[in-house]
Amino acid sequence: MLDFAKFTKYSKPGPRYTSYPTALEFNDSYQYDTYIKKLSTQDSSRPLSLYFHLPFCKNACYFCGCNVVFTSKEDKMLRYMEYLKRELKILSTHLDCKREVIQMHFGGGTPTFFSAEQLKIIIEEIKSYFPNFVKDAEISCEIDPRHINETQMQVMSHAGFNRVSFGLQDFNEKVQIAVHRVQPYNITKDAMDLARKYNMHSVNVDLIYGLPFQTLETFKETLSLALTLNPDRFAVFNYAHVPWLKKTMRKIDETTLPLPDVKLQIMQYTIDFLTSHGYKMIGMDHFAKPEDELFKAIEKGQLHRNFQGYTTKGGADLIGVGLTSIGEGVDYYAQNFKDMKEYEDAIDGGKLPFERGVLLNEDDRIRQFVIMELMSNFKLDIKRFEKLFGVNFKSYFADAIEALKPFVAEDLLTMDENHIECSQTGTLLIRNIAIPFDAYMKKHATNQKTFSKTV
Ligand SMILES: C[S@@+](CC[C@H](N)C(=O)[O-])C[C@H]1O[C@@H](n2cnc3c(N)ncnc32)[C@H](O)[C@@H]1O
Repeated sequence: MLDFAKFTKYSKPGPRYTSYPTALEFNDSYQYDTYIKKLSTQDSSRPLSLYFHLPFCKNACYFCGCNVVFTSKEDKMLRYMEYLKRELKILSTHLDCKREVIQMHFGGGTPTFFSAEQLKIIIEEIKSYFPNFVKDAEISCEIDPRHINETQMQVMSHAGFNRVSFGLQDFNEKVQIAVHRVQPYNITKDAMDLARKYNMHSVNVDLIYGLPFQTLETFKETLSLALTLNPDRFAVFNYAHVPWLKKTMRKIDETTLPLPDVKLQIMQYTIDFLTSHGYKMIGMDHFAKPEDELFKAIEKGQLHRNFQGYTTKGGADLIGVGLTSIGEGVDYYAQNFKDMKEYEDAIDGGKLPFERGVLLNEDDRIRQFVIMELMSNFKLDIKRFEKLFGVNFKSYFADAIEALKPFVAEDLLTMDENHIECSQTGTLLIRNIAIPFDAYMKKHATNQKTFSKTV
């Protein structure tokens, strides 16, 4: 075991880089009309990736950092379905919806709070606007194993869903109670069996490390149990604790959270454990079996990162539909309203519920490339980068190269004329390694209440 105590100095606020620039840079100066123009002038030969946000949950999991609406009221959900329908209609007047769709994702919240019948209606509505799903489109849904039944799985399977992602988080009872998410093993197992029965050919399980009362020992047990479920993929997320943004996180007693060196030990153990059981580490927090597309993509250097995590489907324009959802084009990010009333008001006014976003300049695109390469593949091919952007890496990033020297000295990174590459331990600190390439971090450096801690 490495001496992780010496790396605890790297525990500081930092982005997870699901986008660059990060959502903190989204602003109002990106105007509605510009967004509409961007949508309507997109290159129609580029495929589409669709994201639908289904935000409802009945109870709060205290760790949850997602954009969630708590309700158990059926009429609220029906009303949301109506607005989704109207949003799609407005979208179709600005976007060429006949373009090929190569990916669709239902995220939440808990999409399966909608009944089988409601899910069916939502899916049919989407397909009536987007008729050209390619044959091997990746269609996925986030599922809370406590809220899924056979009819829902059947509906999704018939509609072409081929991937599901189950929230598991941790099997330890004390941890589960502390985060207000009690989920016995059999519930997760039954959900997994259902996914297999309905031929979901990729089943992912989400775990989180850094939760209250977790220790290396408890997490070892969670991993061993999770392995018996035999998922195709694991996502093992570093708990992002941002109580200044998420009220429910304030219910977590911070003195029960594991310290940074314990978190590093847990992650190192997780990597060793999963790789010794046939999984390969894919990017910062994902693991996949050799048969999985992600595994093959990383071998070919074709792994991409976006708001949904890692994907093989690069080169598509991402369209976000629903409350708070985020879209991504070649040179912009765009986010819908987070507030339900504002979201509805926009649609009532015949407009897309676009609230804010960011337009990328040339410098953003250069840095975006470098950061996403590092976050996906843990290395950067400098010559390829220079060819793509026509800039000299050494002079453009002189300050970043300087800032990374301590990482090189600690064997976390190697740097030469042609490559930057993380060592195995360096992969644990990939967010820290990406930060020097981020032009916006300086202005956030003194503010502790921005991002979650990197370790
Ligand atoms: C939208 S949520 C899950 C969907 C579903 N509601 C469920 O609970 O199973 C997607 C995943 O994000 C991860 N997640 C949520 N909040 C997080 C946080 N604060 N830090 C790290 N991961 C988090 C969890 O692993 C979760 O399964």
